[in-house]
Amino acid sequence: MLLYWWLMKRKTFIHQSSLLAGGILISPTFFHVKEDRLIKKNISSHTPYAISTWNVPRANEIAGEALEKGSNALDAAVLGVAYEEANLLNTTVGKGGAPDRDGEVTLDACVMNHKGDCGAVLAVQNITHVAALAKDVMEKTPHVILAGEGAKKFALSQGYISENLLTPESEKAWQEWLKKGRYEPEINVENHDTIGMLCSDQNGHLSGVCTTSGLAYKMKGRVGDSPIIGSGLFIDNNVGGAVATGLGEEVIKTVGSFLIVELMRQGKTPQEACEEAVSRILEKQISKPDFQVAYLATNKKGEIGSYSIHKGFTYTQYKNNLNQNIASKAVY
Ligand code: GLY
Repeated sequence: MLLYWWLMKRKTFIHQSSLLAGGILISPTFFHVKEDRLIKKNISSHTPYAISTWNVPRANEIAGEALEKGSNALDAAVLGVAYEEANLLNTTVGKGGAPDRDGEVTLDACVMNHKGDCGAVLAVQNITHVAALAKDVMEKTPHVILAGEGAKKFALSQGYISENLLTPESEKAWQEWLKKGRYEPEINVENHDTIGMLCSDQNGHLSGVCTTSGLAYKMKGRVGDSPIIGSGLFIDNNVGGAVATGLGEEVIKTVGSFLIVELMRQGKTPQEACEEAVSRILEKQISKPDFQVAYLATNKKGEIGSYSIHKGFTYTQYKNNLNQNIASKAVY
């Protein structure tokens, strides 16, 4: 009951603070569907924590606070990233995300829980909360991945709202990009990109989420690493979890998140495993690459590691009521 009260209060707070922050609204349907699932008894003394790629303080705090109130790791992560999916000022995930070269916003997401169950949606249009949708694919269908129109059809059948995800600002930026007259992918090096979030709950269970609008001005139909289990996200609850951000093509070639978890299984720390995964990408490059890839990982001991090709990658960590943004180590 207490948790329910807190969630309702939190819902009101998010709504109010969103308006102040520039019209960020998490779909009421999303909360309607999700909030009852967060009620869970606090039966363990494990200190929960949430970590997210990039500087996403509010999203990470929402997840961390939900964990402290007893949420399971996956529900907390889905709830946390929902804040950024609804944030119109964030042009790399959800509503307001940069469109493809045809001017259409297509979103990718995946989730994985402590049991090894996973779900993903690829190239979805008009649905803001794709991380929640990926979880619904996992829980409510016999499949792991739904793509494009099929994913949207499933979303609508589950009560998700169809919305225009292209904001006037994103459309203007796309028009400017078109004027360049050539196909030039853009990947942020110093700003942010995909949100990958890893949560450890009071039972010590790990889960994760990855959500993105993908590479800005990508070719129509292009899908990156983010919704690909093993590339954008991988969890093994006996070992740890990892998430990726940056140029998805390079992450997919080395199945980066799975690689990191397997390296941790072999005894590497999260930091060592992230560094090795970045090296696997760089060893194929003949010169300093102009793209960014960054990894964030944690193990069952609660150790955290991160590494990126270029400086500028940061991650956000919530633990013991403290939410901090931390600069990652980088090769260059
Ligand atoms: N990491 C996001 C993408 O490449 O789509």
